[in-house]
Amino acid sequence: MRELRERVLAEVGKVVVGQRSAVDALLAGVALGGHVLLEGVPGTAKTLLASAFARAVSLQFARVQFTPDMLPSDLTGTMTLRGSDLVFRPGPVFTNVLLADEINRTPPKTQAALLEAMEEAQVSVDGTSRPLPRPFLVVATQNPVEYEGTYPLPEAQLDRFLMKIDVGYPSRDDEVAMLRLARDGLNPAALGDVEPVVGSDDLASLRSAVNDCRVADEVVAYTAEIVRATRTLPAVELGASPRAAVHLLAAGRAIAVLAGRDFVTPDDISRAAPAVLRHRIILRPEAELERYRPDQAVAAAVSSVPVPR
Ligand SMILES: Nc1ncnc2c1ncn2[C@@H]1O[C@H](COP(=O)(O)OP(=O)(O)O)[C@@H](O)[C@H]1O
Ligand SMILES: [Mg+2]
Repeated sequence: MRELRERVLAEVGKVVVGQRSAVDALLAGVALGGHVLLEGVPGTAKTLLASAFARAVSLQFARVQFTPDMLPSDLTGTMTLRGSDLVFRPGPVFTNVLLADEINRTPPKTQAALLEAMEEAQVSVDGTSRPLPRPFLVVATQNPVEYEGTYPLPEAQLDRFLMKIDVGYPSRDDEVAMLRLARDGLNPAALGDVEPVVGSDDLASLRSAVNDCRVADEVVAYTAEIVRATRTLPAVELGASPRAAVHLLAAGRAIAVLAGRDFVTPDDISRAAPAVLRHRIILRPEAELERYRPDQAVAAAVSSVPVPR
């Protein structure tokens, strides 16, 4: 599975320079049936990354731009008349990889429709539940600097995301390498060269390898202690939930398998912790004022727990 990861990274790397942790998060998402939140300013290749990833793993891709006037049915689909028959016209959510762009620009009702899709892998339209294709992965984006006219995702909804990745600016070397990529006008010339290098059988094997990945009791206890530690930090108002603990252990399994192992180490857990926990921690207002960051809280929680050996 290590080689599967390398293949995907190399393929996405044809058009996206760097951002490897985002690719790893998407791989963990498909392996576990989880969803990923990408936070970053515009123009940092979030859209490009999600579409190149979907292509590399042979999954259908759709992008929805979330707007203030968007209705749940714009996402899920509607009943329409064809001749004299009422038929269901599926919305863009009926895909494998859904890029939910600027999810915090849409009001809570439409966010909730997406939430149902994420939680249950189905949507209800006109009282009928309709299953979504499998796998189903939501890649949501949000802009960290824009708060005007936005609807911040409530804590309960953030908790549903397996991982949150902060998509930052590239390093100087990466920015130069990006400029050196061949282009067709403004677009990367290699976009058409991104090949499906992982198929549905590979994804099925990845999923079962993750499910079969062994975790020693000490590593389970280590995971629980890290999550519990987030709840007692002085800077934290609300720590990570039990769901977060489930996600953290699962993410550790995915990281282990993608590194070519069939057992989880404490290091897999501590490496997964920032992406899995950062969006589920609410800081006290005083700590926010002092510009303390959720990542610092996660780091403090991790370092407060002795590493099992
Ligand atoms: N890391 C990168 N590697 C390659 N191209 C990049 C990178 N970051 C930005 N770009 C370029 O900027 C464009 C904008 O990317 P896009 O995916 O639309 O950004 P976002 O969705 O984050 O606003 C891309 O099409 C690409 O040409
Ligand atoms: Mg975009």
